[in-house]
Amino acid sequence: MEYKVRFANPAKQYADHREEFIKAFDDTLSRGAIVNKEELWKFEEDFAKFVGVKYGIGVNSGTSALDVALQAAGIGQGDEVITVAHTFIASISSIYLAGATPVLVDVGQDFNMDTRLLEKAITPKTKAIMPVHLNGRLCDMEVIMDIAKRKGLIVIEDAAQSLGASMKMADGAAQSAGSFGVAGCFSLYWAKALGGFGGSGMITTNDPAIAEKARLMRYNGENREDRHFYYHAHNFLMDNLQAALLQVKFKYFPQWLQRRKEIAELYHQGLGGVAQVQVPHFGDPRFSDIYTNYVIRAERRDELAKFLQEQGVETMISWGTPTYKEPVFVQGGMPRLVSAGGDVHPPAGGLPETEKICREVLSFPMYPELTLEQVQYVIEQVKGFYAQ
Ligand SMILES: Cc1ncc(COP(=O)(O)O)c(C=O)c1O
Repeated sequence: MEYKVRFANPAKQYADHREEFIKAFDDTLSRGAIVNKEELWKFEEDFAKFVGVKYGIGVNSGTSALDVALQAAGIGQGDEVITVAHTFIASISSIYLAGATPVLVDVGQDFNMDTRLLEKAITPKTKAIMPVHLNGRLCDMEVIMDIAKRKGLIVIEDAAQSLGASMKMADGAAQSAGSFGVAGCFSLYWAKALGGFGGSGMITTNDPAIAEKARLMRYNGENREDRHFYYHAHNFLMDNLQAALLQVKFKYFPQWLQRRKEIAELYHQGLGGVAQVQVPHFGDPRFSDIYTNYVIRAERRDELAKFLQEQGVETMISWGTPTYKEPVFVQGGMPRLVSAGGDVHPPAGGLPETEKICREVLSFPMYPELTLEQVQYVIEQVKGFYAQ
């Protein structure tokens, strides 16, 4: 099918900066700089600076970032980690893979952790909170950090979707995703706001001990200076070439973020008056969202998605099934699920907002290379669908 508006368009971004990518590729490989070299170290340093932390540790995916960060932060058997059900499976799987137990709370209108449920979810075994900053918007970190401090819990942020998102804290200063907790975990998967050519990720931290342990754990547990092995670990290292190519993109990242915000504003304005659609505009001036995904809530969502497809607009549903209804949970055991009304137990019950979101969400094309005409076309098609 020939789309008028693709959901993503990595070829266009490549074409726009082709000469620079080829130069970075050639410079790196001509020097034989293949593994753990200057390009990686420089990208880690620049990334950490951008987030506002001391250390960046490059890995090969956001999933690896979560796996390494949890283990480097000391999460293990017997610990409970509170996160959300409305997230990519990797957030939850990383908790199991560390040997710990996830506790899943419902989300709020902004698709993020409903912080009113946090205290209800805490038990004597709780060791950490994992807020997931979904779609390019921070969770309310003011509340989460306050609860964590009072209860003696650590915070590990799943910032996979939110590089560059920030919120103004009580002192008026803006603080970025990945700089609040003991560690931040980013995905640099190709479709993210900053994405490599394939998979990639980054861990951020201000804690030198976590940085050191994560650096060893991402590379077979080996200390590259004394050449001894300190942990049983995977090889999750970010490729040096990937870092060199990401560095090319990173230069443009601030202007790409600006463009995303402009496109979001166009969608907001165009769709804000459509009664059957809820746009992701949450009206809290403390938050600066980066719109990694532009996610609406729509009446007759599946019919709308089908109509848009017929009109040549590619959309995506993330996600149509609550995580806890995936076979891995249904067959392998259900985690504790905490809702506003108390604990719920599928299949008799589910997390109300999570379930509703799964029925209503639709992600629209969102990338800096979209033209004004394309955004306008999507808006007109949505209006046309509901006018029928
Ligand atoms: C919230 C969240 N966490 C973790 C990940 C895992 O990142 P990756 O795909 O780079 O492994 C993703 C990826 O989409 C994500 O959206």
